[in-house]
Parts: sequence; C-alpha cells; structure tokens
Amino acid sequence: MALGTMFKDGLLKGKRFLITGGGTGLGKEMAEGYAALGATVYICGRRFGVLEETANELNARVKAKGGLVKPIACDIRVAQAVEDVVAQIWADGGALDGLINNAAGNFISRTKDLSPRGFDAIASIVFHGSFYMTLACGKRWIEEKKKGSVISILTTWVWNGGPFTVPSAMSKTGLWAMTQSLAVEWGPHGIRLNAIAPGPFPTKGAWERLSPSAANRGSTDTRNPMGRNGEMEELVNLAVFMVADGCEYMTGQCVAIDGAMYQAGSGNFSALSKLTDEDWAAVRDQVKSANEKDKAQRTV
Ligand code: HXC
Ligand code: NAP
Repeated sequence: MALGTMFKDGLLKGKRFLITGGGTGLGKEMAEGYAALGATVYICGRRFGVLEETANELNARVKAKGGLVKPIACDIRVAQAVEDVVAQIWADGGALDGLINNAAGNFISRTKDLSPRGFDAIASIVFHGSFYMTLACGKRWIEEKKKGSVISILTTWVWNGGPFTVPSAMSKTGLWAMTQSLAVEWGPHGIRLNAIAPGPFPTKGAWERLSPSAANRGSTDTRNPMGRNGEMEELVNLAVFMVADGCEYMTGQCVAIDGAMYQAGSGNFSALSKLTDEDWAAVRDQVKSANEKDKAQRTV
C-alpha cells in the first residue's frame, strides 16, 4: 500500500500504537500507514513467523520515514497473555497512545451447524480478546493519567445483524456496546473509543473463510452501490484520522466505510440463503483447509 498525500509527513511521530492481528490483512495495512507517518507500531498475533515477516517487510519501507514496526506473539483469547504483552510494551518505551482492536476470527456457517466450540472460537477472539486488550490498556492510561485512543474494527452488521455469521455479529455488536459505554465512562480520563465498520476489503484471511468459491452464489460485489470493493488506502486514511491529534472531541462513534452497501440493504450474508446442503458442505471443507494451513504456522 502506498500512502497518499492526505496527511503531512511525521503526523504520528513519537506516537505508539498496538494493532492486534497486525501481521496480515487490514491490520498490516494500518500498521504500515501509521509507521509511514512516523509511529512505532506493535503488531500481535498467534503466528510469530508471520508477524516477523510483516515487520521486516514494513520496516524496509517505513524506516526512512522514522517509523518502526515491532512483532510480538500473543493469543488475545488468553487474559494473562494479554496482560503480559501490554506490560511488555509499556516497559519497552512507555505508554501506548492507541490500541487498534483488529484481530478477529470468522467463517460463514449456517447457525444450526455450529457447535458451542465453533461459537466460542469466534467469541473468544473478538468479544473476549478485544475486551481484555481494551482493559489492559485503559486501566494503565487511567492510573498514569495519560490520554489514550481505542479503535475497534467492527462490521456494518452491528446495525442490521449478520445471518450466517452470527457469532461474529454478536461479538462485534458487543464491542460496539463497549465503544459507546466506555466513551462515556472513560471520557473524563481523556480516553476515546471509536470504531470503524469496513465494507468488503478483500484480504486472504477473510476471503478464504467468508467467500470461498463454494459460496460464490452469495457474492456481495454486485450489491455495492459503488460497484467495487474498498481500497486499503481509504481504510488506512480513516484509521489515521481517528487516532491523530486534532479530533479529540470525537468519541463513541462508529464510522462505516462501505460505499453505502449497508444503506443499500446489504452488507451482510443474507444472500447465502440460496445455498444448498451440498454447497454448505463444500464451504465448510474450504474453510477447514484454510484454518489447517494457518494453524500449522502458530507459535503460541
Ligand atoms: C462450522 C466450524 C467451521 C466452519 C471451524 N468450526 N470452522 N464450524 N463451520 N466452517 C468449528 C470447529 O468445528 C470447532 O468446533 C470450532 O469451530 C473450533 O475450531 P478450531 O479450528 O479448533 O478453532 P481455532 O483454532 O480456535 O481457530 C479459530 C477460527 C479460525 C476462528 C476457527 O478460522 C481462525 O483462527 N481465524 C483467524 C483469522 C480469520 O478468521 N480471519 C477472518 C476475519 S474476517 P468442534 O465442536 O467441531 O470442535 C472478518 C470479516 C468480517 O471478520 C466482514 C466481512 C464483510
Ligand atoms: P485477517 O487477515 O484474517 O486478520 C485477522 C488477524 O487476527 C490475523 O492476523 C490473525 O493472526 C489475528 N488473530 C486471530 N485470532 C487471534 C488471537 N486469538 N490472538 C491474536 N491475534 C489473532 O482478516 P482481515 O480481513 O484483515 O480482518 C481484520 C479485521 O477487519 C477483523 O476484525 C475483521 O472482522 C474486520 N473486517 C474485515 C473486513 C474485510 O472485508 N476484510 C470487513 C469488515 C471487517 P493469527 O492467526 O496469526 O493469530
């Protein structure tokens, strides 16, 4: 991703951010965007090799701009691991300026086919993990009387539900409640909480699990009023704006960036109602094979 000319060089110089799930996809894009503007960015995930590779790749590009990307392995489902990693980051250079709750798990499935473990697999990452991270940072900011900013990456289905992605829709909606609640509770401490609800921004992680070829009959592309997917730079620009100095009065908000797909009555997977039992079996096989490949790389 080449960051455009929207922001002045060094806008985030001296600032420190943690982006969960920053080794891949949208998290990696935001990490590059922040570091290219001079920030130090910690990225965490379960696959250290992937994080290290991303950090090396991004550092080669952002070094000249004064930015730095640092990889740390962490499974955000584990509260103690989150506490340890946040303590490690604070010890490494002081308070963070911002946390981006970006890590997630998701796959399309008929809800009747989900096991309790299937539900937990997603809720434990999105709902629990993002809360653990927010708490670990928030309590430090309050204790140290430091300002902080949290962005949670949600989806537009926090407003209209997510058929065939119910554990994700429930968990993301919980984070939207967290954003609104803590914006009020922590506002007096100078801590801001906002959220971004992206429309379709093709990434390997999401597309393998949400748009496997077996589910193509539910393709969302043609339902977007702008007739296209999002450009990474558009998302990154919004994520920079939200954490930069100059809009401190903005808190408790969720901004959609989806080409008005949500207003057009979609943004979720309602079209998958057309899939047959055979289609769903093929979808599940494809998601399973993507999961197995990623799992073999996990180091925590
Ligand atoms: C039904 C499934 C399933 C499927 C897994 N499970 N895949 N059930 N249909 N397709 C069930 C398993 O059978 C098992 O239950 C349970 O889930 C746990 O499976 P594990 O493989 O052990 O899970 P785990 O190792 O914890 O992996 C978590 C994961 C995996 C969520 C399943 O996909 C993952 O790590 N994802 C991270 C990356 C990711 O998902 N990126 C996409 C984010 S995109 P049983 O009972 O059988 O043991 C996103 C975009 C939203 O959120 C918006 C788009 C517009
Ligand atoms: P992705 O590349 O699969 O990103 C998910 C990241 O989360 C991975 O780097 C993964 O790394 C990390 N992660 C998962 N479980 C974790 C855990 N337990 N602990 C730590 N890290 C964990 O998918 P993406 O498309 O970029 O999604 C990023 C965010 O955008 C998600 O919140 C997603 O819901 C949201 N979103 C995406 C779209 C889209 O169109 N792409 C649309 C709307 C919303 P490991 O596997 O190494 O842990």
